[in-house]
Amino acid sequence: MADYDYDVLVIGAGPGGYVAAIRAAQLGLKTACAEGRDTLGGTCLNVGCIPSKAMLHASEYFDAAANGTMASMGIDVSPKLNLEKMHGQRLDAVDGLTKGIEFLFKKNKVDWKKGYASFVDAHTVKVGDETVTAKDIVIATGSSVTPLPGVEVDNDKQVVVDSTGALELKAVPKKMVVIGGGVIGLELGSVWRRLGAEVICVEFLDQILPGMDGDVRKEANRIFKKQGIEFRLSTKVTGVTVKGKKATLTLEPAAGGASETLEADCVLVSIGRRPNTDGLGLENIGLATNQRGQIETDHEFRTSVAGVRAIGDVIPGPMLAHKAEDEGIAVAEWIAGETGIVNHDVIPSVVYTLPEIAGVGLTTEQAIEKAGGDKAKVKVSKFPMAANSRAKTNHEPDGFVKVIADAETDRVLGVWAIATVAGTMIAEACVAMEFGATSEDIAYTCHAHPTHAEALKEAAMGVRGKPIHI
Ligand code: FAD
Ligand code: NAI
Repeated sequence: MADYDYDVLVIGAGPGGYVAAIRAAQLGLKTACAEGRDTLGGTCLNVGCIPSKAMLHASEYFDAAANGTMASMGIDVSPKLNLEKMHGQRLDAVDGLTKGIEFLFKKNKVDWKKGYASFVDAHTVKVGDETVTAKDIVIATGSSVTPLPGVEVDNDKQVVVDSTGALELKAVPKKMVVIGGGVIGLELGSVWRRLGAEVICVEFLDQILPGMDGDVRKEANRIFKKQGIEFRLSTKVTGVTVKGKKATLTLEPAAGGASETLEADCVLVSIGRRPNTDGLGLENIGLATNQRGQIETDHEFRTSVAGVRAIGDVIPGPMLAHKAEDEGIAVAEWIAGETGIVNHDVIPSVVYTLPEIAGVGLTTEQAIEKAGGDKAKVKVSKFPMAANSRAKTNHEPDGFVKVIADAETDRVLGVWAIATVAGTMIAEACVAMEFGATSEDIAYTCHAHPTHAEALKEAAMGVRGKPIHI
């Protein structure tokens, strides 16, 4: 057998890559991880999940103080925004967590190769001036913002920004236009709306949050509108010009037609993300990407090139940190000769707005389609949060929990929730689905009172019989 520097080299230290590297080391493999950023943790820890949640959490407190929610509970306050300090706590969160990964690398004896890696051959990469060889190489290079033709992002100027720029705005824009009513647009649009910006969201499709359950998309639209976000649906942005600190957007109906203009102090481009493969030297190992620029793999995360595997945002599937992490564990286990499992049918998605929006499994539309269009084969039950005692007591009446089950077998096919803590509640649905639960299994499971989670139990009760509280 050839002599390699390492058993495993992981390229990229995001949630996919750093988890793969740590698991490989835990399994006794000599492991290195190449990362070009100055800090570990990838998009998620540096400019994604973590800093966005830091701003969402802090702005939620500000809004609760400013919009009368606190006053309605007998807490009279007049909040004053200290944006610099709010950014400070965001940076502290990022700093603490990225350093935590560095600590874990040292603890598990994972070598961090600092620099961007490029393939020389299937077992050799260049990282800066260094050449590193490994028996197995895992590509975990993640994704970056999809550009919009005719719209130039300049995060330094803070007028036309992407998600990274939108996390760092030094002042609250008077008027912000968000291009794209997906997860980033709604999360970061919510942050700046709460801090005082007028927010208009321009969405190409006729509804926000593509891919989510139809009812959820409609209800989310209603709630965000009530919160003050204005939506321009079925509309596309064809260009943005910037003069000084002002942007002018040109909009057109998605189906074509007369154009109009819209002024803004800040424009957030959030129309999706695309896989990172540029500069990786894939051509040197004969590894092609698919039409969407992704690297295709089999269930063991093997690419078409022997010895090279790929995980996370760079391969097909939802671009989510927890999906990347689970693939990171599984790929290391396959490399170590074990069986790595990721059930791609049970990957939750959560939008961390207020209320949160979460789902796992099939949407109602997908379930009916899978049943050959026969609606009678799918049972759906919805329980409103307004009828849940804890949500009601907490003044959180918006949203519902929806359970979708197979009419014949009662097996749960999907669960969707809009509720303040929907992101946490959905974990229960994931476990239930992982165990092949029926709606009856959930309905007959004792849930603590008073909790938001009781809404899932009651929704499940409604699939075959009746919930108690509506
Ligand atoms: P990444 O995290 O993108 O990491 C890849 C790493 O590889 C990067 O650090 C990059 O520098 C490095 N790299 C790239 N090329 C090379 C190379 N040639 N050599 C060396 N290093 C290289 N997901 C959630 O699940 N929950 C959330 O709340 C959430 N919030 C988000 C908020 C925002 C604003 C954004 C932008 C994304 C969010 N995501 C969220 C998505 C999540 O960040 C990604 O799905 C996740 O980071 C993907 O992990 P990954 O390991 O595949 O790639
Ligand atoms: P997205 O795919 O969620 O939404 C993009 C939206 O832009 C879509 O609704 C699309 O129809 C619309 N769009 C596309 N072109 C357009 C145009 N020209 N004009 C107007 N609208 C247009 O992408 P987003 O929000 O950029 O997020 C990228 C990825 O990051 C997501 O896939 C998500 O998985 C991940 N992410 C996850 C988070 C979470 O889990 N909470 C938070 C933030 C990001």
